[in-house]
Amino acid sequence: HKAPVRVAVTGAAGNIGYALVFRIASGELLGKDQPVILQLIELPHAQNALKGVAMELNDCAFPLLRDIVTTDSQSVGFKNADYALLVGSKPRGKGQERADLIKDNGKIFVDTGKAINDNASRDCKVLVVGNPANTNCLIAAHYAKDIPKENFTAMTRLDHDRALYQLASKTGSQVTDIKKLCIWGNHSPTMYPDLTNTTVHNKLIAPTLDHAWIDTFFNPKVGKRGAEIIDARGSSSAASAANAAINHVRDWALGSEDWISMGVPSDGSYNVPKGLIFSFPVTTKNGKYSIVQGLKISEYSQKKIDITTKELLEERACVENLLK
Ligand code: NAI
Repeated sequence: HKAPVRVAVTGAAGNIGYALVFRIASGELLGKDQPVILQLIELPHAQNALKGVAMELNDCAFPLLRDIVTTDSQSVGFKNADYALLVGSKPRGKGQERADLIKDNGKIFVDTGKAINDNASRDCKVLVVGNPANTNCLIAAHYAKDIPKENFTAMTRLDHDRALYQLASKTGSQVTDIKKLCIWGNHSPTMYPDLTNTTVHNKLIAPTLDHAWIDTFFNPKVGKRGAEIIDARGSSSAASAANAAINHVRDWALGSEDWISMGVPSDGSYNVPKGLIFSFPVTTKNGKYSIVQGLKISEYSQKKIDITTKELLEERACVENLLK
């Protein structure tokens, strides 16, 4: 019998949290033979709602769920955590500038980074979902001095999966027929969904597509899908974001056949400034990811990569005082 694995989730009573924790408890994150302990962290005012979530988790009688911790203390919540899914973050206020949101949320991730450092397992794998995800991740990693930087990742899997669907729909294929798609850069509308190396039924697809479709339909469709969902649903994408978080961590932990997209600390590949949390195509095996190397980058792709790099550098400059 496997020992239980501890999974910490912040913002666990929020919209994404509610769509996420039941799937972790059911075994969709780490496999149907892996018992889990959920360590759910919420702000003080959301403790009642969090208790309600815990009651429902109990009422599911999940065979793999060994224990539930509910807390407003990060040191309790991250204690010995093997995985930390950082969903909790402040939504953008009415009329608030993006730069102010970045600074506000940045502060949350200072304490979170320290709490992970002081309490979590030394090889805790961290996924940042809360926006601005890449820059929040940069801050948390900075304050978790004793945990390897490569354990800190940001979520661009929702963008990746959105792109898969759009291409499947365009080409009349199944998402499983598509390989080697990737997202470069920031989790924001500047990210670049790259089809250069993408195959459908093992054949390169880009040469059969109209470049104008890629440039004026596909790219903005993927980049602005979040806003489209808000318009339609009246609230932001929660179930698909939770699903992407499950896919991200599951593939990282258990490996994946195909390329996936993850925001990870740049090692300087493709001239992306070292240390920036940047989405690359990666492959995963035995709990480790590797950035796909040696890809030819076209002039068009380079321009797109430069735009999203510039935005990430600007975000980093906004929180410079937190990174000292
Ligand atoms: P929500 O507002 O429904 O839930 C957030 C929860 O986090 C709230 O319950 C709040 O009390 C809690 N929270 C806030 N600060 C916290 C802290 N310091 N510690 C613990 N809990 C805290 O928001 P929702 O819809 O669940 O989204 C959460 C975040 O995920 C947002 O920042 C959103 O922009 C982001 N997001 C990211 C995506 C991605 O692809 N990377 C996709 C979709 C959403």
